Amino acid sequence: MSQALKGQRILLCVGGGIAAYKSLELVRRLRDAGAQVQVAMTAGAQQFVTALSFQALSGQPTRTSLWDSAAEAAMGHIELARWASRVLIAPATADLLAHLAHGLADDLVTTLALATTAPISVCPAMNHIMWKHPATQANLATLRARGVQVIGPEDGPLAEGESGPGRLSQPDAIVAALAGAVPADAPVQGPLAGLHVVVSAGPTYEDLDPVRYLGNRSSGKMGFAVAQAAARRGAAVTLVAGPVTLETPPGVTRVDVRSAAQMRAAVFGAFPADIYIGAAAVADYTPRMPAPNKIKKSSESLALDLVRTPDILAEVAASEQPLKLVVGFAAETENVAEYARGKLIAKRLDLIVANRVGIPDGGFESDRNAMTAFWKEGQREFPCAPKTELAEALVELIGERLRA
Ligand code: PMT
Repeated sequence: MSQALKGQRILLCVGGGIAAYKSLELVRRLRDAGAQVQVAMTAGAQQFVTALSFQALSGQPTRTSLWDSAAEAAMGHIELARWASRVLIAPATADLLAHLAHGLADDLVTTLALATTAPISVCPAMNHIMWKHPATQANLATLRARGVQVIGPEDGPLAEGESGPGRLSQPDAIVAALAGAVPADAPVQGPLAGLHVVVSAGPTYEDLDPVRYLGNRSSGKMGFAVAQAAARRGAAVTLVAGPVTLETPPGVTRVDVRSAAQMRAAVFGAFPADIYIGAAAVADYTPRMPAPNKIKKSSESLALDLVRTPDILAEVAASEQPLKLVVGFAAETENVAEYARGKLIAKRLDLIVANRVGIPDGGFESDRNAMTAFWKEGQREFPCAPKTELAEALVELIGERLRA
């Protein structure tokens, strides 16, 4: 499968035609291709399929009206238009195409189309006579001239029993056409362009002797995903990685370390930076004196003499570095929100991302996670999703907090 849609933020606008049922499948296919999807529906579309179905499939609230104050409070339509890296309109009825061609903005979907700077693709679906009508063809020519990608329609049997061009393209064909229009590894323009972001990821290993160490179960997946998401938004990213087996994300500068002390040195060595994101699971304790030779099995029990490691995150937040934002993670097995808020205050952070660890579907090692971000005046839930998707959403939030 093409990687072109991976991490793309696709705003799927659904128009009012019977083919709207195919757009449910389209959401699935887009997510399978690694895209995040948010859905907006016209009033007509809501006559054919429900907002709830799209919400269940996209994992995001479906937007149905320009005048929904609750939805606007969560993410205003202008913000949603900016969020999108691509806008896909499927099905696009003859009426919707006419609105788009003439720049009319009298409902949510047409307003979003006018308010976005993202590339737009339309997937027409209508009766074959409406499709062939000179007015429709003139509107399509206008849209094409403006750089809008037109996908389909297909020729074949139509809902009303006739046959001809006007069938919505199949979801797989739409995804393939969309992917073909996105250059591979296209950077998603975003709020981090031009900024230097330092991310820590993975575990640290604290050596007990030449053959043993104290470590933890962090795989680095979360931190690497965050580094990749930041790089895709134009940031220069330095990734300070503990011992992990992951590949370096494209465009990211990586510094490999082993212990907490080495991680601290590498983080401060990477400064100056605009943003620090501490996703690493740094050991809290390290042996006071690693044994020079292998510790021999001599007595029934063994007590380790451990001392505290430097708290890198707290030191960064308290330092004189001209950072715009310091973001920590909190890995907790209980009282997640309470402990995370405590760390936000105690370490004087701008943002903390709390996740439950010690569970099978999330936290350490898993490809998926669920998180809650806390800042002084608010919080945001990120329901369970692949870490790559969460990282994209987190980087968006970081962009918002930078602008706040
Ligand atoms: O790597 P994965 O397998 O994908 O798992 C992801 C993760 C669970 C490791 C990640 O999501 C996460 O929660 N990372 C932080 C883990 C952690 O050490 O949490 P903490 O609550 O113990 O520490 C709080 C914060 O202080 C963290 O930002 C940590 O990087 C930082 N810290 C902690 C101790 C220390 N000596 N120095 C630090 O900078």
